[in-house]
Amino acid sequence: MIYKHIRNIDTTKDFIIPCHKGDLKSLKKFISIENLNFDGEFSTHQTVYGSKGNRIYVLGIGEKKDEVKLVEAFRKLCFDTNKYWNDSIEVVSDDLSEESIKKAVIGFELGTYEIGQFKSKKQDSKKVTVAFSSSKNISTILLEGRLIGETINRIKALVDAPANHKTPEFLGNWAKESSKSSNYKCTVLHEDELKKQGFDAVIAVGQGSVNPPVVIVNEYMPKKGKKVDIGLVGKGITFDTGGLSIKSSTNLHYMKSDMGGAAVVLGVIELAAKLKLNVNIVGIVASAENAVDSNSYRPGDVINSYSGKTIEIIDTDAEGRLVLADGLSYIIKKYKPEQVIDLATLTGSVVQTLGYSAAGMFTNNKEMADDMSKVGFETNERVWQLPMFEDYESDLHSDIADLRNFSGKPIAGAITAAKFLEAFTEEHKSWMHLDIAGVSFGDSPYAKMKSASGYGVQLITNYIKSKAVK
Ligand code: BES
Ligand code: ZN
Ligand code: ZN
Repeated sequence: MIYKHIRNIDTTKDFIIPCHKGDLKSLKKFISIENLNFDGEFSTHQTVYGSKGNRIYVLGIGEKKDEVKLVEAFRKLCFDTNKYWNDSIEVVSDDLSEESIKKAVIGFELGTYEIGQFKSKKQDSKKVTVAFSSSKNISTILLEGRLIGETINRIKALVDAPANHKTPEFLGNWAKESSKSSNYKCTVLHEDELKKQGFDAVIAVGQGSVNPPVVIVNEYMPKKGKKVDIGLVGKGITFDTGGLSIKSSTNLHYMKSDMGGAAVVLGVIELAAKLKLNVNIVGIVASAENAVDSNSYRPGDVINSYSGKTIEIIDTDAEGRLVLADGLSYIIKKYKPEQVIDLATLTGSVVQTLGYSAAGMFTNNKEMADDMSKVGFETNERVWQLPMFEDYESDLHSDIADLRNFSGKPIAGAITAAKFLEAFTEEHKSWMHLDIAGVSFGDSPYAKMKSASGYGVQLITNYIKSKAVK
């Protein structure tokens, strides 16, 4: 879609009137129907017809507290009605804040997301111009909203893509192409290089697959010669069968989404470059397919890792923490970032703990936790902190190696996973782990099966932005 700024609404054309709950003032300016069955309830909409037979969509945007969810209201309106739109539509946005206008644009973009990427017959996508009315110049806001929405759609398409297409190599190529069109540096480390450099944990997880593992290193460094402000690490398991500790077949097809953390890292770097944020960021994606094969790593195996710490494998389904361990050690050793954040669809346990409403947040850095929580509420991509007490460390004791990858107990799984990762952070004082297993992929009103949510792109981008002004 194309977004543009207009001063006044042309009331003879199709347009949208967003209305707060119980406050239909803006509506009364345009519509003279006395008793419209509409009260502005969040994310409800109705169509009425103007004097020229033009369509007027009244959109409920609810109460003040609903503002953080505004993307959703516009996304639903766009998804439900865009088939009736002509080549342009206007939005009465004089009373919306710039932040709300940006959310509206993101919503429109997300409303055009097409999940049927692999259908033999493609739907025609039409170019619609959406014009927002405002007395201020809002063109930068419109551009920013479009870039954010477009990037989220690209990330959703990646997460929704099937694992036979989306191999680790495919993610590497995706990153390479993105780096060329958005202007940042991308290096893909292939199997030989991974062996040479000692990414033993990544290699172990990937050794059962015909699709070899890769580590993607993205560098967006606009501040030349300056330190790395933020290092991001993403779990990029393109399919998680569980390995020899094989998962049950119920919902196994959804394990194509086990690269949700990687997708956020790829999306954030691309978006930061498109938005030209003045922050030095490095993004690492540790990608492998956790497959079942005679060559797969086994429970009981002892493997090495990039850090030099040895790991006893108790369960090959606890593979995410292994690839992340190498990613974390690598980024901390090579780039010494001020802050490190890893994102991963890491545990079923976090889903049992927090459901689908928030990511599990783990950190010993209070300032980072406070900042991330704040941004989480603002973007409606919430996080909730879980503890990292020393007590949990004994669960990772191994007799034979430096540590084991699973406690063997069905308790506090998300926490012990985080404690495992912590062992590979070289006691970095500003590290955070986000377990996004419950929020990255799930039910939505727009698809019959579970699908990508796009969670994390706005959260991390806005978090990074908040650092840029500090
Ligand atoms: N990829 C899964 C975690 C997951 C579960 C993601 C549900 C999305 C939805 C992860 O690799 C895994 O299998 N974790 C195990 C760890 C256990 C074996 C220690 C889990 O959480 O059960
Ligand atoms: Zn697993
Ligand atoms: Zn996994």
